[in-house]
Amino acid sequence: MKRVGIIGVGEYLPKKVLTNADLEKMVDTSDEWIITRTGIKERRLAASNEATSDLAGKAAQAALENARLKSADIDLIIVATTTPDAPFPSVACFLQTLIGAKKAVCFDVSAACAGFVYAISIAYQFISRGAYKNALVVGSEVLSRVTDYQDRNTCVLFGDGAGAVVLSEVKSGGILSIYLGSDGANADLLKIPAGGSRHPASQETIDNRLHYIKMQGNELFKLAVTIMTQVAQTALKDAGLECKDIDLVIPHQANMRIIMAMAKKLGLVAEKIYLNIEKYGNMSSASTAVALCEAVKQGRIKKGDIVLLDAFGAGLVWGACVIKW
Ligand code: UT7
Repeated sequence: MKRVGIIGVGEYLPKKVLTNADLEKMVDTSDEWIITRTGIKERRLAASNEATSDLAGKAAQAALENARLKSADIDLIIVATTTPDAPFPSVACFLQTLIGAKKAVCFDVSAACAGFVYAISIAYQFISRGAYKNALVVGSEVLSRVTDYQDRNTCVLFGDGAGAVVLSEVKSGGILSIYLGSDGANADLLKIPAGGSRHPASQETIDNRLHYIKMQGNELFKLAVTIMTQVAQTALKDAGLECKDIDLVIPHQANMRIIMAMAKKLGLVAEKIYLNIEKYGNMSSASTAVALCEAVKQGRIKKGDIVLLDAFGAGLVWGACVIKW
């Protein structure tokens, strides 16, 4: 088995900012409620002519430059997304053409907020077994297109963005463990009810606003804290490490209170947690991707550091990955 590590990172955030003050004009909410209950101050919105593959393309170009690779060097493209440009073809195929990665095998992964970790786990399998050399793994979302800006329970939470990494064989360090899990019995807690084969688009689904995200936030909150804590512990154990060995946690950014409750249970000080929820809200699969890219660029992750990715989302699905940088 070959060692697999991340050799390049890149992110892209759309320019348009939606602040809590903007949301106060749209629904019955307040800046104070949003900050104290979620930790979010603002989020980014894609322009009307930007789709998920456009965001992915910009993040991917940045990651390729950072890895000092050309698009022709990429053998595999996996995009994690819940908001593809269209039901098919995959975002990965659109991305292939955008960046000109002609020889790459391309597909998407549907694992909601844990999608980036799931996609890394798949690329890891291919590279560690020698099937492919260089993989581009992207988390990209335009959640603003499936967010109901009449529903204060959800519209304050979500934003748009993309993060990309290049995975390749490395001489030292790299991915030490990956742990994934799923629980379809709780699928109803977070979903977009219509637009698929169960409830195809109709006048009724549109009138009932069923093409937007529906969430039972309270139930999810408790599960998120418990599961993200357990997942971190299991992935660390699999890597032969303990919480005290962690240099930086890159958690899914759904709610500041979830992240801090998890950190407390793990006995981690706030300095060991990377946060960007304040600026971007919850970007589903792009949250961990963008957070990892930013942390590297800001020098928060240095060679030899132990980094833990920890994500949880609709499905339910969860995943953690321990990486020695
Ligand atoms: O990304 C994948 C996983 N996602 C998550 O893990 C999300 C988990 N859930 C959460 O982050 C939180 O549950 C929320 C942020 C969604 C909600 O926070 P909460 O503290 O659980 O609030 P709640 O749903 O229990 O609602 C408390 C009150 C309710 O009013 P009443 O019934 O007590 O009168 C809500 O109607 O807050 C009200 N509320 C709001 N008030 C002002 C809900 N949303 C808002 C809002 N502004 N935007």
